[in-house]
Amino acid sequence: MSSYYMPWAKLKSHAPFNIATSGVAHWKLRDLPVRLEDLEISGPSFYGFPPLQQALAEHCGVTPDRIVAATGTSMANYLVLSTLLQPGDEVLIEQPTYELILAAARKVGATITRFPRTHESGFAVDPAAVGRAITPRTRLVVIGNLHNPSSALTDEATIRQVGEIARGVNAHVLVDEVYLDAAFEKAPPSAALLGDHFIVTSSLTKVYGLSGLRCGWIVAEPALAQSMWRLNDLMGVIPAHLAELASVIALRELPRIREQVRKRLDTNRAILNRFFDSRAELEVARQPFGTIAFPKLLRGDVDHLVDVLRNRYETTVVPGKYFEMPDHFRIGIGGEPGPLEEALRRLGSALDDIMQS
Ligand SMILES: Cc1ncc(COP(=O)(O)O)c(C=O)c1O
Repeated sequence: MSSYYMPWAKLKSHAPFNIATSGVAHWKLRDLPVRLEDLEISGPSFYGFPPLQQALAEHCGVTPDRIVAATGTSMANYLVLSTLLQPGDEVLIEQPTYELILAAARKVGATITRFPRTHESGFAVDPAAVGRAITPRTRLVVIGNLHNPSSALTDEATIRQVGEIARGVNAHVLVDEVYLDAAFEKAPPSAALLGDHFIVTSSLTKVYGLSGLRCGWIVAEPALAQSMWRLNDLMGVIPAHLAELASVIALRELPRIREQVRKRLDTNRAILNRFFDSRAELEVARQPFGTIAFPKLLRGDVDHLVDVLRNRYETTVVPGKYFEMPDHFRIGIGGEPGPLEEALRRLGSALDDIMQS
C-alpha cells in the first residue's frame, strides 16, 4: 500500500552529481520578492485562500470555483483518484507512468488497467490503444502531459480524442500537467479548457523550481471541485498560510522565472543532445521539450550501470525499473549546465566501464 519509488527518491537518489531529479533546481527564498512583513502565520483560508484561488484561476484561465488548491500535484492526484474511484472501479493508466499514481490508485482499491506508450513510438499517446483498453467499468483515464518519464508532448487533437473515448463510457480523464509549461509556447491549451470530463492537476514544483511551496492544484468542474475540497477536509484540512502567501507572490513572478528556466533548459538540452550523439549504446526518443529524458540501454544491465555510476562516479540517474521499464533510465536536465555536463561526462565513463566488463 505504499510507493516503491518514493523511498528510493528520498533516501537513495542524492549524490554530488544528481541528475535523478525531474524538476528545475530549487530557487531560494531570496530569489522571490518576499518580505517578512508580507507573511503571516494564520489567515482566512477555509475552502481556499481567496487571493491564491484568484491567482491560480488566472494562471489556469478558469474561474476560481473550478480550482482546488492542494499540497503539490501529489495530493492533487490523490484527491482526484480518491474522489472519482470506488473500490473495484477501473482506472486506465498510461504505461510507463509516474509510480505514485499507480500506488495511489492501488491505495483507493481501484482495479488498474493499462494502455501502452511505447519507446518505438516516442512514447506517444495512441488513442486506438486507449480505445482497446477502456471498458464500461472504466471511471477514469490517466495521462501525463508532458509525459514522465519521457517528456513526450500530447497535442490537443489527441487529448480530445482520448476525451471522446472516455466520454463514451462516462469516464473522466485526468491529465497531470505538472511538466506542461516546460513546452513554453508550444504547449497545447490545458486539458482543463477542453470540457468538463477533463480534470487537470499541476503545481509550481517541476517547471518553476518551487517545490517547497507545495503550491499544487486541481482544475475540475465546480461540483466535482466541491467534492474534492470536502475530501481534503479529511487530510489536508487547512494549508500552511505562510506558503499560501508566498505562493501568491511566486505566481506573480512566474513570467520572469519562466524566461530563466527556458534559457537553462535550452542550454541543457543542447548539452544532453551532444551527449546522446556520442553514445551508440543508448537509444532515445529525443523530445524538444521538458526537463527529463528516458534513454534505453541497448547493451548491458541498467541496475549495474546505476551502481557503477553511483559508487565509482558519485552520480545518480533514475533506474527504469521505477517506471516498469528496466532497460531504460531517466536523466533530469533541470540543474545548472556545468554540473549537468560533468554528470554526463561521468555517465559516459560508467557506460565505458560496463561495456568493457
Ligand atoms: C507526473 C508527476 N506528477 C506529480 C508529481 C509530484 O509533484 P509535486 O511536487 O507537485 O507534488 C511528480 C513528481 O515527480 C510527477 O513526476
